[in-house]
Formats: sequence, C-alpha cells, structure tokens
Amino acid sequence: MIAPVDPAGEYKALKKRIDAAVREVLASGQFIGGVHVEGFEQEFAAFLGAAHAVGVANGTDALEVALAACGIGTGDNVAVPAFTFAATVEAVVRVGATPIIYDITESDFSIDVHAVGESIRAGQSIAAVIPVHLYGHPADMEGLLALQSEHGFKIVEDAAQSHGARIQIGGERKRVGRLGTFGCFSFYPTKNLGAAGDAGAIVTNDEALAARARLIANHGDAAKYTHVLPDGRNSRLDAIQAAILRIKLEHLDEWNSSRRRIAARYTQALDGVDARLPSERPGAESVFHQYALRIANRDQVLAKLREQGIAAGVHYPIAIPDQEGFADYADDHAQYPTARRAADEVLCLPIYPLMKDSDVETVIEAITALLA
Ligand SMILES: Cc1ncc(COP(=O)(O)O)c(C=O)c1O
Repeated sequence: MIAPVDPAGEYKALKKRIDAAVREVLASGQFIGGVHVEGFEQEFAAFLGAAHAVGVANGTDALEVALAACGIGTGDNVAVPAFTFAATVEAVVRVGATPIIYDITESDFSIDVHAVGESIRAGQSIAAVIPVHLYGHPADMEGLLALQSEHGFKIVEDAAQSHGARIQIGGERKRVGRLGTFGCFSFYPTKNLGAAGDAGAIVTNDEALAARARLIANHGDAAKYTHVLPDGRNSRLDAIQAAILRIKLEHLDEWNSSRRRIAARYTQALDGVDARLPSERPGAESVFHQYALRIANRDQVLAKLREQGIAAGVHYPIAIPDQEGFADYADDHAQYPTARRAADEVLCLPIYPLMKDSDVETVIEAITALLA
C-alpha cells in the first residue's frame, strides 16, 4: 500500500526530540500559552520573514479571526476562488460577510485576478480578497497586489497548503503568507508543516492588526478579565502542539526540498503520458503540498490505482459553487468552467517528504501503464 501522506513517518523520524518535548510540556503544567507558544510564534514569523505570528487553534479559525481583525463583517463582500477547501468560504460566511465566488486560472488553480479586477471595474464592491495558494503553488500575488493598490481591498492569504512556498516579487524572493494584510496557516497533521492535532497561525507585518487578531482569539481580553470586545472567542494554539511544531519547523525547508525533488521526478518521468502535469508560474516556487495531474478519465484511473494499492486522492471533487452549502453564493452567469473542469479532472499522486524512491517509481510505473 502506498499512502498519500505519512504523518506517522514524520513523527518516527523525529521521535526522540518530539517525545522529550511533549514530556517536558506535560511536566511543566503550562498547557496553554507559555514559552513554546511564544517561541513558535517568533520562529515561524522569522521563517516567513514576517513581523508577527499569532498562534490559533486551526487554519479555519485563522481565516475567520484574520477577516474579523480586518474589520470584515456584515455588508462586506469577499472574493474567494471557486476551487478550494470549504474552509476558505466558511470563514467569510462565519464573519457575516458575503463570499463572491470567482473562477480560477487554468495554469495554477488559484483565483483569477484578472476576473476580480474586471468585476470591480464593472461596479462590484470587494472589501477583501482571499487568494488560496492551492497545492503549495503561490497564487498570482503580484497581480493581486497591483489591483489592491488601485482599489484598496484587504488581502487575506489562505496559505494553509503552502508553508515555505516562495514568489519573486519586487525583485526579491519572498515566502507566501507575509505578502497580504494577513496570511493564514493550518498545521493540520498532513500539511507541509503538520502538528499532532489541530493547530493554526495568523501572520502579519502590521503590529496593530496582530494585536487585534490576538485580542479576538483570546475572548477580547485586553488585560486579565478586562473584555473589550463583545464577540471575542477562544482560539488558541496548544503548548504541546507548539513544542512539536518548533521541532518540525527546523526540518521544513529540507522536507519541502524533498517534495520538490519527488515532484521533479514525477514531471520528468511522466512527460509524454496522456495527462496535464503541474507547472510553476515563472518566479513562483511551489512546495508541492499536492502533485495534481489532470486527466480526462480521472475516476477510472483513480479506481485502477487504488486496486493496485496506490492511494491517489482527489482534492477536490466538487467545485465550491456546486457545494450544497455554498449554492446560494454561486453566480449563475459565471459558469466557473475552469473550476468545474478541475473538479472533474484532478488526480493527486502520493507525495510526502519521506516517501521512498521505490514508492515514487511504483507510482510512475502504474501511471505510465494506465496513461501511455
Ligand atoms: C486551503 C485550505 N484552507 C483552509 C484550511 C483549514 O485548515 P484547518 O483544517 O486547520 O481548519 C485547509 C485545511 O484543510 C485548507 O486546505
């Protein structure tokens, strides 16, 4: 059986240090906040080149708290892509705003910035845009930042799948998540940086916004039992998760390089099969959270791979406008051809940093035989 991901393998590789760190937190009795949460926040911000990071309970909360900290709420419209995980859109609805769903671009599966610009120029009001760096590939931040300078909306990056991905911007290589007003991360166990449970973080370069996000995520508590917001909440990063994340963060660049090496091998070996292979936009460096092929007869190929013990996946089989929960927000005129085709065609091959070369070759042989 070739698994799609291997969080237990990552634990085994770092077992000694993780076991010691977890025991240390348990013995300290400091389960909420404390040195590991503060340490991780500083180290993660430094890794990204951002000024501030605020630990929260998961990536969905990160998006919701970031939107709320931007002041987004009832009466505001937020642009989201038609092809993403549901959390991107849920967060908008949960703050009381309205998601405006845009199609994605064919090349990188992220929000069509050109379409957002056209609709704003045609009179659509947009208070914030959530670009999703899907599969670890940076969205078109250059285009979005240019549009932002014209129209002044907030940008809340959904970086849940792209820890460490980089983009060439203004002559500099920068990590995603520190380019918008806020960047939101999930440390769900299978992410490029994964905890041993739920965890997340919000990143920003703005001190006041960081303080606002921290306030919202901690019951609006400005000083002990001094609650300055009516709608604060509890969304905190656990000390045990923070201790584990600190150790795994030290390996993130190396593990992302490993993902890139496996992706390069797939691309080299599968060149010529009857599928569209993923590519990187010039100046963008993906961290290959997923390696997504596009295949016309996807479901048959998926079933055959599974018969052979290869757990390929489909992220995601239903586009956002076609989800029952979001149908009210779908724009009947938009059609979303690219997102709908992606939902029909994407097939994600197993990829994780500690994947054995022999397993990579087994996947290649199977795909080649099915798509020759
Ligand atoms: C694109 C995207 N956004 C948001 C999330 C939400 O993160 P979490 O599961 O930590 O709430 C995920 C995680 O699955 C995701 O893939």
